[in-house]
Amino acid sequence: MQNLQPFHTFSLPVQAQKIVEITNIDQLKQQWAQCQATQQPIVLLGQGSNVLFLRDFQGVVLLNRLMGIQHTQDDNFHYLHVNGGENWHQLVTWSIQQGIGGLENLALIPGCAGSAPIQNIGAYGVEFKDVCDYVEVLNLSNHEIFRLTNAQCQFGYRDSIFKHAYATGYVIIAVGLKLCKAWRPVLKYGSLVELDKSAVSAQQIFDEVCAIRRSKLPDPAEFGNAGSFFKNPVVSQAEFARLQQDYPNMPHFPQADGTVKLAAGWLIDQCGLKGYQLGGAAVHQQQALVLINRDHATSSDIVELAHHIRQKVAQRFAVWLQPEVRFIGEYGEVNSEQAIA
Ligand code: FAD
Ligand code: EPU
Repeated sequence: MQNLQPFHTFSLPVQAQKIVEITNIDQLKQQWAQCQATQQPIVLLGQGSNVLFLRDFQGVVLLNRLMGIQHTQDDNFHYLHVNGGENWHQLVTWSIQQGIGGLENLALIPGCAGSAPIQNIGAYGVEFKDVCDYVEVLNLSNHEIFRLTNAQCQFGYRDSIFKHAYATGYVIIAVGLKLCKAWRPVLKYGSLVELDKSAVSAQQIFDEVCAIRRSKLPDPAEFGNAGSFFKNPVVSQAEFARLQQDYPNMPHFPQADGTVKLAAGWLIDQCGLKGYQLGGAAVHQQQALVLINRDHATSSDIVELAHHIRQKVAQRFAVWLQPEVRFIGEYGEVNSEQAIA
């Protein structure tokens, strides 16, 4: 067995039968074929910043380390073809240094570029779908490589086709980004609204986003975590009206389709759970939506804490939280909601 602790940001004491760094497509095909022949389960990882390993993984973990960035441009756009193993934050930093705006609101999100489309990463008013031109995919069963357009990816809030029809047997090997040269700042969210729209630069937004994130979110190097543990719940207008009667100050975000997004962090916070500790796992003091490996947590500590939070929030608000983090069991991904039910 090999130690998985350094390869996922929760830093839990778990192992895998084998861990392999994938640096080219042929190697990826070979590893897949080998595992098929020996009937070993496979899990693909970028930087492991959105996963919870429930126990030792009885199979092979492939680490996406397909590197390389190509930059082209025309009169109106910059085009970046980014291989899947590139680090997302380094890509954002590099683009700003090159004078290419558009990714600054997505600074400091951990993980690989090839993982960004899967849950359509988002922060501070921008989502991956806003900058995505195409996603390049390898079909492992027939070795076909094809591109999905932005529309074909079916992006939604923390959702895409890569969690559904293309969830197994496909690997994202590269992403194509299209960034408009007529750059416009996105200053919709939080303290960004205070910046001067006519004078602000992409670098200033990048700096502000990094500063806000550092003040709220734990650095996985200090306390293991996987960012927001739960998704923000999206409820019907009627359900929101019911909640608002009792909680008039509840933060809420009306969606284009008439539904309303609630703030899971606020719901958890209202239950008095900030800082709450169960075994080695705890609710982060600065952001209740983040669960941390406070002190040598085990996978069970995190699962029990998530169960406790989900029950408390449901008892108080009749809203059932769903994990954002992907749960990996002994042989592959498992249903995360069932695991904490
Ligand atoms: P991993 O965790 O390695 O993988 C995630 C899932 O995708 C797994 O199921 C894996 O099997 C699968 N997978 C990985 N690579 C591929 C591939 N190439 N092809 C097919 N399947 C693949 N997310 C946000 O959206 N917004 C935020 O603001 C944000 N902030 C965060 C802050 C912190 C401190 C942390 C720790 C996480 C945060 N996240 C955030 C979550 C995380 O950064 C993103 O989900 C990120 O895209 C995960 O990338 P990864 O490479 O680590 O993916
Ligand atoms: N809030 C509280 N208490 C808390 C946490 C939040 O009252 O402990 C309130 C805040 O005051 C605010 C609201 O809840 O009114 C929303 O909080 P915040 O702005 O911190 O954002 P979030 O909804 O908790 C989401 C994403 C983050 C993303 C930020 C910024 C999800 C699940 N999470 O968090 O993404 O960085 O917005 O855009 O959508 C991630 O996905 O891993 C992640 C970190």
